[in-house]
Amino acid sequence: MELHVLNHPLVEHKLTVLRDKNTPSSTFRELVSELVMLEAYEATRNLSVVAAPIETPVAPMTGKKIASPRPIIVPVLRAGLGMLDGMTRLIPTAEVGFLGMKRDEEHPTQQVTYANRLPEDLSGRQCFLIDPMLATGGSASAAISFIKKRGCSHIRLVNLIAAPEGIKRMQEDHPDVDIYVAGMDDHLNEHGYIVPGLGDAGDRLFGTK
Ligand code: PRP
Ligand code: URA
Repeated sequence: MELHVLNHPLVEHKLTVLRDKNTPSSTFRELVSELVMLEAYEATRNLSVVAAPIETPVAPMTGKKIASPRPIIVPVLRAGLGMLDGMTRLIPTAEVGFLGMKRDEEHPTQQVTYANRLPEDLSGRQCFLIDPMLATGGSASAAISFIKKRGCSHIRLVNLIAAPEGIKRMQEDHPDVDIYVAGMDDHLNEHGYIVPGLGDAGDRLFGTK
C-alpha cells in the first residue's frame, strides 16, 4: 500500500480554511472541490490511455485519450458526494457509481450497505473511491470489500483527511489499495472523530446539524 500525502502550499492553505469552524458551508463546498481536483491530478497519474489519431488545424497527429473501459468514481454516501464534482471535472469521461455505508446500530464496529448503484461486473475497471474522512477506516474498508466482490482489482482511495488508525486498518485489510490524502492528522478522539480534523464532513458540506 502506498500512502500519498499532498505536500503543497496551496493544499495546506485550502485545508486550513476548510478546517476552520467559522468557514461557511458554501465556501467549504468550493474548497472541497478545489482540493479534490488537486488530489485527483496525482491519483490519476497511471490512468490507462490509448493512442488517438486526430487532425489539428495544422497537421495530423496521434495523441492520447483515456482508455476503455471507462474509469469509475464511487462516492461513499453521503459526504463522498461533496467530492464528486471535483473528480468528474478532472475525469469527464468517468462513470459514477454510488455506495451508501453506515454503522450497524447493533454492532457499531460493523458497516451495513444501505444503498448501491454500481455495475455488477467491475473487472478491468479503474475505480476511485472518494470519501472526505478516513477515521477508523471501517467505512472505507467495507466499501472496498464490496467493490472487490464485484471483480475490481484496481482501486484507489481518495480522502481529504486521514487518521493513523484508518491508515493502519487499510494496511491490514486492503494492502493493495493506494491512498491519496490532502492532510494526515494526529489521532481519533473518544467519539471516533479525527483530531484536529474538520468536524463532521457531511454536516459541514450539507449544512445539517
Ligand atoms: C463519515 C465519512 C466516512 C466515515 C469515516 O461518514 O464520510 O464515510 O464517517 O469514518 P470511519 O473511517 O470511522 O468509518 P458518516 O458515517 O458521518 O456518514 P455521512 O457521510 O452520511 O455523514
Ligand atoms: N466522520 C467525520 O465526518 N469526521 C470525522 O472526524 C470522523 C468521521
